[in-house]
Amino acid sequence: MNPNPVLHQKWIYRRRPTSIVGPEHYELTSSPLSMDLSDGEVLVEARYLSVDPYMRINQSLKPTYNADPHPLNAVQNAGMVGRVIASSASTLAPGDWVEGMLGWQSHARCHHSVVRKLDPELAPVSTALGVLGMPGRTAWFGLTEAGRPHAGEVVVVSGAAGAVGSLVAQFAKKHGARVLGIAGGAAKCHWLLDTVGLDWALDYKAYASAQQLSDAIRERTGGVDVYFDNVGGWISDAIFPIIHRRARIIICGTISQYSGGLDESELGPRFLHHMLYQRATIQGMLARDYLHRMDEMLRIVGPWVQRGEIVFEETVVRGFDQLPLALNSLFTGDHRGKVLVEV
Ligand SMILES: NC(=O)c1ccc[n+]([C@@H]2O[C@H](COP(=O)([O-])OP(=O)(O)OC[C@H]3O[C@@H](n4cnc5c(N)ncnc54)[C@H](OP(=O)(O)O)[C@@H]3O)[C@@H](O)[C@H]2O)c1
Repeated sequence: MNPNPVLHQKWIYRRRPTSIVGPEHYELTSSPLSMDLSDGEVLVEARYLSVDPYMRINQSLKPTYNADPHPLNAVQNAGMVGRVIASSASTLAPGDWVEGMLGWQSHARCHHSVVRKLDPELAPVSTALGVLGMPGRTAWFGLTEAGRPHAGEVVVVSGAAGAVGSLVAQFAKKHGARVLGIAGGAAKCHWLLDTVGLDWALDYKAYASAQQLSDAIRERTGGVDVYFDNVGGWISDAIFPIIHRRARIIICGTISQYSGGLDESELGPRFLHHMLYQRATIQGMLARDYLHRMDEMLRIVGPWVQRGEIVFEETVVRGFDQLPLALNSLFTGDHRGKVLVEV
């Protein structure tokens, strides 16, 4: 018997949170790693694991875009970037970098067809979980297909310093729009202005009410043509009364509601009369609906990344044991850009 087997570590989702998610809802397990592979399978060693707000949506018991909530007593589903360490597939060899939905585990055995091969020469492999991955796809297709901004229009983005929001804001600038970002804290707002290059940035925490935030946005922009919503709640309440004629509102996420709010009785659509007045449209968008168009996004955004035309900050948390805490940090909000855990 091997006295020092390689360990296969997994974060198991054990308890359903009723408010904010954290380490108490997970258990870390380890067992000796099996190197056995069936035909067509590969063994991947994780380097970067993703934490994303949808994980909390999938813990809600109420119906969401998934038929069922994330099962208990299973590895937390998540994006992984890792290296192939053994292969019985002709398309992948040991040493290749891949990305796939392989979960919060140190190693994953999977069929070669469920991962995509990465070219580390093109961009850092971590970007496959951020700007050149699901968040990039969300931002690109959410903005261009549902938002459809024109040059000179006003685009407002909530959650603007985050993984999706910071990309939406920059893609909107590339379309010639004037962009206002809403984020929590002065430091994030300085970053949005000085580094990301937005026209305006507002710290929602500095406003006591939706009315005050609304007034501040109207004062600066004159009104809103496209609202890309990552946050929901009272921040969105501030936008509806100041939309322009034929405004487009994209519901990408409502993170302010995830930590228990999705399980409560729902609020009425208090501000939708403004949709009528302005003949506006409101559209939900889901990244998975654009999975088949991933290459299209990569062809456009990839060269921007390579030429340094896009700011894609990554907050890298080190240590496999930090995963649940890193997930929790999405709801406490100190990071900028994409949060990743490096194993
Ligand atoms: N539709 C889709 O397919 C799709 C795909 C990816 C993501 N999303 C959604 O897009 C949104 C952003 O996701 P992301 O991955 O880019 O995460 P992220 O923005 O990088 O991280 C979450 C951020 O949300 C903000 N936040 C947390 N709680 C908040 C609250 N109560 N009120 C206001 N802001 C709060 C925090 O920023 P502040 O410090 O600024 O508060 C935090 O940093 C989420 O709603 C997510 O569910 C949707």
